[in-house]
Amino acid sequence: MQSSEIRQKFLAFFEARGHTVVPSSSLIPDDPSVLLTTAGMQQFKPYYTGDADPVKDFKSLNTVSVQKSFRTSDIDEVGDETHLTFFEMLGNFSFGGYFKEEAITYGHDFITQELGLAISYVTVFKGSDAVPKDTESENIWKSLGVADVREEGMEDVFWGPTGASGPCGPTTEIYCTNANGKDVEIWNIVFNEFLCNGSREQLLAGNAKLIPLEKKGIDTGMGLERLAMISQNKKNIFETDLFAPIVENIDIRASGRNSEKGKRIIADHARAITFLLADGVRPSNKGVGYVLRRLMRRLIIYGVQDALLFDTVIDSYKDFYEELNDENNRDEIIRVAANEYGKFGSTLGRGLNELRRIGEVDAKMAFKLYESFGLPYEMIKDFDDGKNAKNLTREAFDEEFRKHQEISRAGATAKFGGHGLYMKTGEVTIRDESEVEKVTRLHTATHLMHAALRAVLGPEVRQDGSDITVERTRFDFRFGRKVAPEELKKVEEWVNDAISRDLKVEYKEMAYEEALVEGALGFFKEKYPPRVKVYTMFDPKTGEIFSKEFCGGPHVGHTGEVGRFRIVKEESSSAGVRRIRGVVE
Ligand code: ALA
Repeated sequence: MQSSEIRQKFLAFFEARGHTVVPSSSLIPDDPSVLLTTAGMQQFKPYYTGDADPVKDFKSLNTVSVQKSFRTSDIDEVGDETHLTFFEMLGNFSFGGYFKEEAITYGHDFITQELGLAISYVTVFKGSDAVPKDTESENIWKSLGVADVREEGMEDVFWGPTGASGPCGPTTEIYCTNANGKDVEIWNIVFNEFLCNGSREQLLAGNAKLIPLEKKGIDTGMGLERLAMISQNKKNIFETDLFAPIVENIDIRASGRNSEKGKRIIADHARAITFLLADGVRPSNKGVGYVLRRLMRRLIIYGVQDALLFDTVIDSYKDFYEELNDENNRDEIIRVAANEYGKFGSTLGRGLNELRRIGEVDAKMAFKLYESFGLPYEMIKDFDDGKNAKNLTREAFDEEFRKHQEISRAGATAKFGGHGLYMKTGEVTIRDESEVEKVTRLHTATHLMHAALRAVLGPEVRQDGSDITVERTRFDFRFGRKVAPEELKKVEEWVNDAISRDLKVEYKEMAYEEALVEGALGFFKEKYPPRVKVYTMFDPKTGEIFSKEFCGGPHVGHTGEVGRFRIVKEESSSAGVRRIRGVVE
């Protein structure tokens, strides 16, 4: 059965049983305590708690939806048979209408009768100190002929709450077998009996109270992709019609990372990016904008952040999701993706070269790469099929993060730790991009320093290498003697003068030969491609050029953004080569 038909059948099945069809809400929830919409029930929270009236709003106590959902908690699992970041969740809901008997029977009938699939087994809640065992559900399943009923605990079959507080309760899950013979959880039926006054973490730690709800509710969630996998008898979700056309269009041979897993990650992320952009999210340094940016960057390392990929995603989903059936939105999605590529492609490229050069990295080194080039954990982890990060774990990486945060935070208590370094969303640890900005400023300062050294010491100065981290720039150049302190002072002044003039920074792409003719400076040990980018820093009033270099970027737009430049050290690097370290403040 095609997935479009599954969506329609699901909605029609519940509509015929007294449910009002409600459109998906945005991926960005109204609830400020939640970063993203992770479940269909989120838009209905006030109906469970009695804060809103379902009859007034839906003319029914019951609703049904296909909800756009996003779970950052599953990001490390993406690429296996069943996990995704963005997914579509089919759900039926009741706010004081029906309860266990109907909910389980509907679930059973939809799977076995409507779709003609077999249920392998189900789970029910085994009970805890606060909530008794769910024998009622067990009996209902048995009466429906499902013999294999397994008991599970709080961790697995107790839902919610989402966010800082909310409705929650025990659940029962339906498992089906895929074409690999593997049992996969496809449907989670929640019995919302309580209001929890804390978060899920607090509840599991025994630090939150369960208050019985006045009216019991039903909340269910079934991943469309998993259901399609079972219905279409596929071995994994990426072989279903929801993904196959996207995966087919992914060509990552050129990246040297041509793995099946790589293609799956790209397919997942391309969908997620498309839907996040369509809901108005833009790449940024914090919150959901940073989630989006991480996804985009992961595509960038595979070199596939292109229009064709997003076109394929949009074409596959535009019939059901109106927001994608809009040419302006399509153009905007493609434009933003291309812009992000332009901004970060080269920094990340340099980071990956560094990773390749280093070989195997531990958590400390991985964090360093993150700091200097913005390479996120998952990028380091998948690069070259994980060869460089065999023993790297997310926990160890996060631990480095935490250590760094402790050092840099110095008592700051803002929501975003330290100087905005990372925030804990409850689902993932996110770190922002202030470092990448810093590196960008240092990068521009390095061009200016190169030009200043030539201005002060003479045109025989030749770049011999450079290395930029979040703390400093290190620049090696051929020069036959020690640079005197007064000369260093002059170099510093020259750079700071250029900064205070707020020079405009622009780049042009041109043929390599043409760039040479134009007198662009470069690091001539490196082999350049036939077409190169040349960055120019010039005074927009007089047109006077201060620096012109081959470079992949990125740079600041105006030198005023660099801040104050200071040389911290001058020393010999090797015979005939001097080394200067500089910082921006
Ligand atoms: N809210 C429940 C879930 O998402 C149904 O699993």
